[in-house]
Amino acid sequence: MKEHIEKIGTAGEVSLAALKTMAELLAWEIEYLSRKSELNTLLKGLRDLSPEEKKVVGPLANATKQKLIALFEQAKKDLLEKSIDWQALAVDITAPGVPVHVGHLNPLTVVEHEIEDIFTSMGFAIADGPEVETEHYNFDALNFPKDHPSRDMQDTFWVKEDKKVKDRFLPRTHTSGVQVRYMETHKPPLRVIVPGRVFRNEATDTTHEHTFYQFECLMVDVEGQVTVATFKYVAEEFFSKFFGEKVTIRLRPSFFPFTEPSFEFDISCILCNGKGCATCKQAGWIELGGAGMVNQKVFEAAGYKRGQYQGFAWGFGMGRMAMMKYGITDNRLFLSGDLRFIRQF
Ligand code: PHE
Repeated sequence: MKEHIEKIGTAGEVSLAALKTMAELLAWEIEYLSRKSELNTLLKGLRDLSPEEKKVVGPLANATKQKLIALFEQAKKDLLEKSIDWQALAVDITAPGVPVHVGHLNPLTVVEHEIEDIFTSMGFAIADGPEVETEHYNFDALNFPKDHPSRDMQDTFWVKEDKKVKDRFLPRTHTSGVQVRYMETHKPPLRVIVPGRVFRNEATDTTHEHTFYQFECLMVDVEGQVTVATFKYVAEEFFSKFFGEKVTIRLRPSFFPFTEPSFEFDISCILCNGKGCATCKQAGWIELGGAGMVNQKVFEAAGYKRGQYQGFAWGFGMGRMAMMKYGITDNRLFLSGDLRFIRQF
């Protein structure tokens, strides 16, 4: 009996040491440690032995079983470890990290901030107005006649009419409506700019968009204080600061219902910090926007007395400014959502 147990122990040890795979290990476990294994069958038979024999064989059988269990556990651990591909799991601490993409401001926003900085440094306030505006503020209060062509569907998106509501609503076609809104709540002297989004029913091309950004500038004081010369000075000061070089202004006669007299204004063809401007054509002047002396009818619409105040207003696209400053050739890129464009700024 004793030799039999020792033989099983040695055979178990030897075959365990020769194992190579998990499958072999499991087969070994059945052979040596399962309930039906030779060793366990022998252990069950111990109770039929005499007490003297039990004393000798019992501890030996148990010790052999414990030893085989311990060896089995160790072999299992070794095999598991061998099956792990440490190379594949290893982390290369010298490898470069995954880059984190930082967001970018749209060049329109950059330009808006610059414009705001320059104007606040000149004592101007910044005002805002609703993007969905009433016909009153967008047209009527600005002295647009009822049959003015810009009220047509061709120029203006109209919000579907609701018979219960008195006003007609539209996505505003310009920021000029805020002139009246602002003057209704402020008394001159006043200086304010209104940057904002505007909408027109426009066929898009490289210089036209249905949704674009304008900024309005309004300066009003008592008669004789704010003249066309003031406008010219403020405009030249602003553009020179914005482009970082001396810019001059040229005024051409024009018409807007809310200014009298009205002008289109051009700026001299600046070199955009020596980089050259995409928008600068041969003529030497760049057409930029509309301006004029505020029509007294607009003052009246805001609740001021006729003839009491005088001021100038101007308005133009901020996209144009951004295009000139950065040499952008297609204004549709601003709202394209194309990351390749935005990442350049
Ligand atoms: N609102 C006019 C436009 O969008 C521009 C303008 C503003 C003209 C202020 C005169 C004075 O074309």
